[in-house]
Amino acid sequence: MLHPVICIDGPAASGKSTVARLVAHDLKYVYVDTGAMYRAFTFLTLEAGHDPTSRARMKQLLEKVDFHVEIAAQEISLRDGTRDLGPHTRLPEVNAAVSPVSALPELREYLVNLQRKLRLSAPLVMEGRDIGTVVCSDSPFKYFIDACPIVRAERRRKQGEKDNLVARDKQDSSRSAAPLVRAADAALLDSGKNDARALADLIVQEVRTRLQPGPTVP
Ligand code: DC
Repeated sequence: MLHPVICIDGPAASGKSTVARLVAHDLKYVYVDTGAMYRAFTFLTLEAGHDPTSRARMKQLLEKVDFHVEIAAQEISLRDGTRDLGPHTRLPEVNAAVSPVSALPELREYLVNLQRKLRLSAPLVMEGRDIGTVVCSDSPFKYFIDACPIVRAERRRKQGEKDNLVARDKQDSSRSAAPLVRAADAALLDSGKNDARALADLIVQEVRTRLQPGPTVP
C-alpha cells in the first residue's frame, strides 16, 4: 500500500525544511529531506576524488556503494554500509558541488526510485526540488515554499553556512533533468511574509481536513 505523502518543494534556504519538520511532527509522519540524499552522494563523490560532473564516475559509484535509508523516530538516516552520512552533508565543499552532482541523470534515477519506495513504509512529508513534479506527482498535497533572495541569503548567513544561493538556484532551475519548478497544482507559500509555524499550521489543517473520511450514508 502507498502511504500519503505531502510534497514540499522550493529553492535553497526558502525555509522549507523548517516547515516540513513541523508538519511531520504535528501529523506524526516521517520527515524525508531529499536534498540530504543528493548531498550524501556529493560527499561520496568528493571523498572518492571523482569529478562531480562525470556521469561515468557516478555510474561506478552507484554500482559499488552500499547506500541505504533507515527510518527511525519519524526521521530518516542515510548510511553507506554502517557509516552515518548525515554529519558529512552540510560541509562547504558539499554546498559548492551539490548542484552539478544532483544534475547527473544516473543519480536522479537512482534516488527517485528509492524515494518512491519510501512511500511503502510510512506516511511522509518529503521535501526537495522535484517532489511535486516528478517523485510523487500523483500526490494531492503539494506546496512550493519561496522567499525573496535577500531573505534567503540572510537565513543562510544566520545559519553560519557558506552557500552561493544565487549560483545554486540558477543551476537547479536550468538543468535539463527535473529542474526546480513549481508544480502547476502546488500552493505557493511565502516564507518571508509568514513564519514557519503559520505555514505549517496551514498545511496541517488542510491535510487533516482532506484526509478526514466523509460522512457515512446510513
Ligand atoms: O535542499 P538542499 O539545499 O539541501 O538541496 C541540495 C541540492 O540538492 C540542491 O542544490 C539541488 C539538489 N536537490 C535536487 O536536485 N532534488 C531534490 N529533490 C532535492 C535536492
